[in-house]
Amino acid sequence: MTAAILDGKALAEELRAAFKARVAMLAAQGQRPGLAVILAGEDPASEIYVRNKVNACEAAGIFSQKITYPVDVAPATVLLKIAELNADPRIHGILVQLPLPQQFDAKTILEAIAPEKDVDGFHAANVGALAQGIPAFIPCTPYGVMKMLAALDVSLAGKEAVIIGRSNIVGKPLALLLINAGATVTVCNSKTRDLAQHTRRADILIAALGKPRFVTADMVKPGAVVIDVGINRLPLEEGGKLCGDVDFEAVKEIASLITPVPGGVGPMTIAMLLANTIESAERKSKS
Ligand code: GUN
Repeated sequence: MTAAILDGKALAEELRAAFKARVAMLAAQGQRPGLAVILAGEDPASEIYVRNKVNACEAAGIFSQKITYPVDVAPATVLLKIAELNADPRIHGILVQLPLPQQFDAKTILEAIAPEKDVDGFHAANVGALAQGIPAFIPCTPYGVMKMLAALDVSLAGKEAVIIGRSNIVGKPLALLLINAGATVTVCNSKTRDLAQHTRRADILIAALGKPRFVTADMVKPGAVVIDVGINRLPLEEGGKLCGDVDFEAVKEIASLITPVPGGVGPMTIAMLLANTIESAERKSKS
């Protein structure tokens, strides 16, 4: 079997076209959605992610503010800026790009963001709401994965879903979403014993561990839906290109559906950030 390829780029473009009307409606009510993105340090990957997020806002008509700090910025400076943004009526979403430089305690920073502006869904209040099945803001990457599964009519109730990766950004929130959707969920990590024994049971296999081509064909059940969240840069001697956590060429011969890298989950993450920012502005305009 050769898998159908899930085109995240096309789906994200469809969603983004629909966002424009919602943004225009809000702007007409004097409530143009606004997103502030904070970047501390000069991590090259983070710089690219932040640039993509800001450009996507502009294309959708969302007001965006990019705030950059040198790598040695004092955490108190960033906390002060967050307090200012929490009180700024033009700003409906605040995102602090992770990872933060080593002098930061990420938790303290994320908890300083007002939960109603936490469009990343990382604040404990939003994580708790998600755990209870009453989500306020769903973290963007897991939200994008769920949207892709829904767009493809992948049924989840009673299915075996296996996630490799237990991060707060992807693995854990995605596990909650899949549990809430009625799937039987297993969360593995790099230390899981006999990992392949788990992954081979998966109807839906999600790789989110950040290791290039880690998931090989022998780890995949024939006909599985395979979602690749990884974005890894290959060494220059291997071409320097982006690749996912899944050995795409081999696994596509086994799976029924598979997401490519690039052009799979990545564009959906940005689309869902826009969705959360618009949703935040809509809530504000109704309040
Ligand atoms: N770093 C990697 N992914 C993310 C994300 O979704 N949000 C933020 N803030 N930082 C990230």
